[in-house]
Amino acid sequence: LALGACGSEDSKSSTGADIVTKGTLTVCSDVPYPPFEDFDKSSPTGFKGFDVDIVSEVAKRLDLKLKIQDSSFDALQSGQALAAGQCDLAASAMTITDDRKKNLDFSDGYYDSKQSLLVPADSKIAAIGDLDGVKVGVQQGTTGKTYTEENAKGADIITFPSDAEMFQAIKAGQVQALLQDLPVNLDHTRDGKFKIVEQYDTSEEYGFAMKKGNSQLVDDVDGALEEMHKDGTYDTIYAKYFTT
Ligand code: ARG
Repeated sequence: LALGACGSEDSKSSTGADIVTKGTLTVCSDVPYPPFEDFDKSSPTGFKGFDVDIVSEVAKRLDLKLKIQDSSFDALQSGQALAAGQCDLAASAMTITDDRKKNLDFSDGYYDSKQSLLVPADSKIAAIGDLDGVKVGVQQGTTGKTYTEENAKGADIITFPSDAEMFQAIKAGQVQALLQDLPVNLDHTRDGKFKIVEQYDTSEEYGFAMKKGNSQLVDDVDGALEEMHKDGTYDTIYAKYFTT
């Protein structure tokens, strides 16, 4: 993947894969979803986060520029946005699932995750068994929504298009709990107003999703990820966002 000192524009990109805009890796992400993706006016891409740092490195290693666009998570996880050519890759804390593999191809996993239950700091809710009749916020199209439907059958599940909207709803008292990915709920506990009462070991692994059949791009992205693991870049980025 290394680039020699060749001059022509065409030799610049080391990926022979089909991409939406020549010379640019166009990435879709449902933002904000901290610490994985967030807005950042001071950053050259306009975004920051663990996913953003990882895809920035991937793009660099493929000699592509990086363009990130905010997208709906449901349209990403269904495969619709990628099939429609809106971007080359979805970097959106997306769990690799068999269901999604029907419509998308995934890179190797790049982050291990779990589900969790977030409630206000003064809440009496202590476990998933306490959710009967309780309004629980989940995000449309997510593994957290499926987990809640399967494990909290008596809950009053309220579906939101985004994490920003569900976090707003719990702040406003419109829902009494949020069930979603642990790192994101953990980010929501930082001001001390919310707490995580349970974690669920769902053994989820995040992957970068690409259009079904774009195996050249998948190989190139996996190659870049492998290099980043070998040369310590992955660990450096990981340490910036997570404690081990
Ligand atoms: N990991 C979960 C899933 O794949 C949630 C991801 C939501 N991502 C986001 N950027 N809103 O279903």
